[in-house]
Amino acid sequence: MNTNLGTPVGLGLLVALLAIPAVSIGAEVQRIGNVKRGALVAAACQSCHGAQGEGAPAMGYPRLAGQTASYLEKQLRDYVSGLRNNPVMAPLAKAYSEQQRADVAVYYASLAPPYAAPTVKPDRRSLARGRLLARTGDESKQLQACANCHGPDGSGEPLTAPYLVGQSGSYLASTINEWKSGARKNDGGRQMAVVAGRLDEKDTAAVAAYFESLGHADF
Ligand code: HEC
Ligand code: HEC
Repeated sequence: MNTNLGTPVGLGLLVALLAIPAVSIGAEVQRIGNVKRGALVAAACQSCHGAQGEGAPAMGYPRLAGQTASYLEKQLRDYVSGLRNNPVMAPLAKAYSEQQRADVAVYYASLAPPYAAPTVKPDRRSLARGRLLARTGDESKQLQACANCHGPDGSGEPLTAPYLVGQSGSYLASTINEWKSGARKNDGGRQMAVVAGRLDEKDTAAVAAYFESLGHADF
């Protein structure tokens, strides 16, 4: 019988295993982030992204809490390299070292505050269309379901695609438009560039409203 788990060695192994998701898997630079140090960096992010990373839907500031560390770190790196170009975030990301970016990424990944209150209540038709695109897609537009990559109900696929559920609707729409304009070109396989190109203005608004509303039981 293996009783080793109770010993300090067993515990150490367990802690090491639990700590693995904090490592930026798949990132070019593999730095191990530190949550405590990340909290210090995050002091400079709270005014926009909220005290707990819940975001500010009305302002279009995205929720960061609970997004994977590897995704968050990649976005910061992409702002630095210019693969993602945003006048607010690019200069901010450049102000930090690689280590600080890894630290703040694991910090936000560790948080789970409630969803911020949405600002608009979308109409039923728009929500129904958004739901269809999210779950089924639209063959006539060669659009596959968002769920194929973003997981059931947009909850995210840890190693590949971020969550969309509960995200600020105006942020979702604006980042989809950034793919269309080419300001965001940071998905290696150009999967999102293709998806965004097939979403017209109405469908973009519908799918953004749908994913934002999913975070709220009262819709
Ligand atoms: C002045 C407001 C402001 C501050 C301060 C700010 N951000 Fe942002 N952040 C934004 C906006 C606006 C966006 C959306 C930009 C875009 O569309 O590319 C964003 C996007 C992001 C994203 C991408 C999110 C996603 O889902 O892809 C990350 C990661 C991020 N910020 C991290 C940080 C960190 C870390 C800090 C602190 C060091 C910070 N931000 C400070 C406004 C801000
Ligand atoms: C073939 C896979 C695939 C499909 C299908 C797909 N996505 Fe994505 N999506 C991705 C990947 C990969 C990323 C992350 C790209 C990166 O690293 O920035 C992403 C990122 C996003 C983001 C950015 C989230 C953020 O926090 O900035 C939005 C918004 C998004 N997708 C919306 C959608 C919508 C809406 C649909 C359905 C109409 C959809 N996606 C379908 C793969 C996909």
